[in-house]
Amino acid sequence: MQPLENKKILLGISGGIAAYKSAILARRLIDAGADVRVVMTSGAQAFITPLTLQALTGNPVHTDLLDTDAEAAMGHIELARWADIILIAPASANLMARLSHGFSDDLLTTLCLATDAPVLIAPAMNRLMWSNPATAANTKILIDRNFTMIGPDEGAQACGETGAGRMHEPETIRDAVIQFVNNHSLNKLAVPGGSAIPSTAQHHNAANQPSAYAEHHRSLAGLHIVVTAGPTVEPIDPVRYLTNRSSGKMGFALAAAAVKQQAKVTLIAGPVSLPTPSGVARIDVDTAKSMHKAALSAVHGADVFISVAAVADYRVESVAEEKIKKSKDDLTLTLVRNPDILASIAAMPEKPFCVGFAAETEHVKKHATGKLIKKKLDLIAANHVAQPDNPVFGSDSNSLDVYWPGDGHQHIASAPKKQVAAELLDIIAERLATR
Ligand code: PMT
Repeated sequence: MQPLENKKILLGISGGIAAYKSAILARRLIDAGADVRVVMTSGAQAFITPLTLQALTGNPVHTDLLDTDAEAAMGHIELARWADIILIAPASANLMARLSHGFSDDLLTTLCLATDAPVLIAPAMNRLMWSNPATAANTKILIDRNFTMIGPDEGAQACGETGAGRMHEPETIRDAVIQFVNNHSLNKLAVPGGSAIPSTAQHHNAANQPSAYAEHHRSLAGLHIVVTAGPTVEPIDPVRYLTNRSSGKMGFALAAAAVKQQAKVTLIAGPVSLPTPSGVARIDVDTAKSMHKAALSAVHGADVFISVAAVADYRVESVAEEKIKKSKDDLTLTLVRNPDILASIAAMPEKPFCVGFAAETEHVKKHATGKLIKKKLDLIAANHVAQPDNPVFGSDSNSLDVYWPGDGHQHIASAPKKQVAAELLDIIAERLATR
């Protein structure tokens, strides 16, 4: 049996240069056994013609909301009911903004409002548009409403810039759809007395009702997890900065492992050169202050916050506007404290389950449990970062000692960060269930 056999996929295409890849994507989905119908926005039609998609899928392409002929053939409500999955690729910044605010000003946005099928989104846009706070806020709204993000990827962009925002390759998107189908029992998502897809309200109820939650969830499925990863950089002047050796590998491994456990994941990343794990909504930041701002906004309504980032404790008090000249024998920089992101989130009245990391060079247990108590955390994962054979920072493997209030302790033996991440998530799910 083919992986997408009997699956009805409505492929939404919005305006962007990545639309040319949607033709290949349609083919890849059909090759995997899916029945594909296409809806194109007017912007999409500036990049690729409906005729191409019609020829590739063998089905008429839908473009207009108010077309009487199209409505007579398969009306928009019927189309919304027909789909097992709505997959939007590429999803432009504009489309994501309209979706997040409930617009129904064209056929694609109307279908998304009128469906109870899961909606998967593969964003594609310029890197600055992707990292713009408006897009980040819209992405968060969509994630909170159970939209599933596929990417974006990072690398060279059609506009000549390099960064996060490019659409994943068609094969990666097809694989993410297959993974989604394997992880979700489509058409069986009905909740007692509810609609066919878990609503935001249901999602939040799960987190707000510990006993019901404990009974039904020993996994992280459906929860919104926010992860910070990588270093922060603190500018000294336009060309120099203070930072640390974090590569982001541990945080990215956790984000990827959480998606595998069917969580919705927002990853707030300092400057690292790692690709975005599939299915993760990524927000790029640089300084501790910008990470703090992004984290405060991302954790609203989130279930779990995992602070893996190596946040600079101090920043330069006054950043020089011009490059500092080599005029004296010595130079004094005044540093001031950065906000403690984790502590401020753990102090919120409606705080998520807060997981800290502790990078220690000595007295690991004492320092880690000290941070657990001082920052009022639910769990802390301590790593010994001064081992001669494994500095942890930048390496591919890690081992952790995980502590929680009431003298809880579990050791995760040395293994690739991917495996350590999966084991840590199991502990988090277990601890959440007993809350
Ligand atoms: O990125 P890799 O190369 O894979 O390396 C992984 C890692 C070593 C960076 C990671 O496993 C790790 O230990 N991260 C936490 C590093 C750290 O900054 O530890 P800390 O003991 O200074 O901070 C304790 C906790 O408070 C951490 O969860 C940290 O994210 C958080 N914190 C710290 C300072 C600050 N201003 N704000 C914070 O939120």
